Amino acid sequence: MRIDLIPKKNWTGRVLVGFMFDGDKTPLAMPGEEGRVFAAVAAGEKFTGQFKKTGLFRCDAGASKVIVTGLGKRNEFELDRVRSAIAKALKRAEEIGADSVGVLIPDNKDVRGELADFAGAVVEGAILSSYRFDKYRKPKPDEAKPVGELTLVFANTKNLSVAMRKAVGEAVARSEAVCFARDLANEPPSPKPPEKMAEIAAGLAKKGRITVRVMHRAELEKLGMGGILRVGAGSHQPPCLVHLTHTPAGKSKKTVVVIGKGITFDSGGLSIKPAQGMETMKDDMAGAGAVLGLFKWLGSVDLPVTVHGLAPFAENMPGGGAQKPGDVIRHFNGKTAEVISTDAEGRHLLADCLAYGSTLKPGLMIDVATLTGACVVALGDEYSALLGTDQRMINRLISVGKQQGEFFWQLPLPDRYKSHLKSKVADMKHTGKPRVAGTITAGLFLKEFVGEGVPWVHIDIAGPSFTQADWDYAPAGATGVPLRTIAALLKGL
Ligand code: BES
Ligand code: ZN
Ligand code: ZN
Repeated sequence: MRIDLIPKKNWTGRVLVGFMFDGDKTPLAMPGEEGRVFAAVAAGEKFTGQFKKTGLFRCDAGASKVIVTGLGKRNEFELDRVRSAIAKALKRAEEIGADSVGVLIPDNKDVRGELADFAGAVVEGAILSSYRFDKYRKPKPDEAKPVGELTLVFANTKNLSVAMRKAVGEAVARSEAVCFARDLANEPPSPKPPEKMAEIAAGLAKKGRITVRVMHRAELEKLGMGGILRVGAGSHQPPCLVHLTHTPAGKSKKTVVVIGKGITFDSGGLSIKPAQGMETMKDDMAGAGAVLGLFKWLGSVDLPVTVHGLAPFAENMPGGGAQKPGDVIRHFNGKTAEVISTDAEGRHLLADCLAYGSTLKPGLMIDVATLTGACVVALGDEYSALLGTDQRMINRLISVGKQQGEFFWQLPLPDRYKSHLKSKVADMKHTGKPRVAGTITAGLFLKEFVGEGVPWVHIDIAGPSFTQADWDYAPAGATGVPLRTIAALLKGL
């Protein structure tokens, strides 16, 4: 999507989008003759500015068509409404065949918070809702095409500042990183085996201050990464571990390790899934996809934080060399785990990486994984679970997430449930009791691999990583959650 910024007097387009609060008579920043005409027409049409409602008006005084999109009540305003509202407006624009639209940016006094954030949210909502994964299909001739060009129109040219352009540029970079992560998770499973993912990750090191190291089978054996190796052993496609590093130009404020589960396809292995349960398992690398997306973003911003990204990739298949129930896996930190179900594979990759990541002495370690079906049962498909040892960061993720329209809820990590993981043959079993607190016992298992004193948060994205239906500004398919929240968290450190 092309994004421009221009003063209102220079705008010559034919479709203009305006935002309106419920209870107002005119859209924000639509003064004078246009506004008066609008108010008269809108009164007849009974359009009130309700959130997620749009109105299409002919306004001869200026643009030939005006799409007004509701922000709801002023006192209920939060920034995420802007993303949803612009998505609704662009859907309407699509329906009338518009390829290019202008968006009236309000004045500072009209919005709570920074106007640059408002404009950034417009850009994010527009790019994220216009995303399509059309690599393997030809859109039908009668299918509405997403709007290709968005012009931010400034009634008050004072707002068209250097800072505004910078904020818009940053929003574009964030959104493109999310679209990149979505592409990776939407890609069918066979064309994206572990080595292919590593190749894509290596491409990220061309921009900014990013380096990459890929550890292949021989090196993983030398390092003792039994989790990654055993999970990958049932496939013809060898597993690997990608280690990306962002080093700031100036002084580093903090070292953060971000780990993402990268199962490029989860068949369940020998504990094979029923066919229906496999349908979306190409998305079982969405955690690693978010890590790669994060590094795409890091390539375009000058963040004063050292960030290590660990993305372990493997295909979980029931081939001849596959791990078996009853096997014992030895992980990077020497701890052993008894395998009960080969379908609980993700935690073994994460275990190696949490132990390895701890050796990098981070001030914060986050792992992101489509880890448990139990999480979807507990929190549904729009909430990710948070578990961990860093309560401040957990609180921060919840509040930052809300601003980003990505939703999180904390689950406990009680020592009392550690008994569920007791094993007679290994240091622990890798799963708890059947159908009992599956997300929590997975978290307790992971905790065993986090180094002493390392602040850690585990994010289970099994629900929100993939959506069957369109969301406000995420079309059906991979969503890119929780990339924007982590990016905002890192930016705020
Ligand atoms: N990748 C799945 C978890 C999953 C399920 C993600 C549904 C998204 C939607 C994971 O590897 C898995 O299969 N976990 C098992 C663990 C169980 C065997 C303890 C599960 O949740 O059933
Ligand atoms: Zn599985
Ligand atoms: Zn899995």
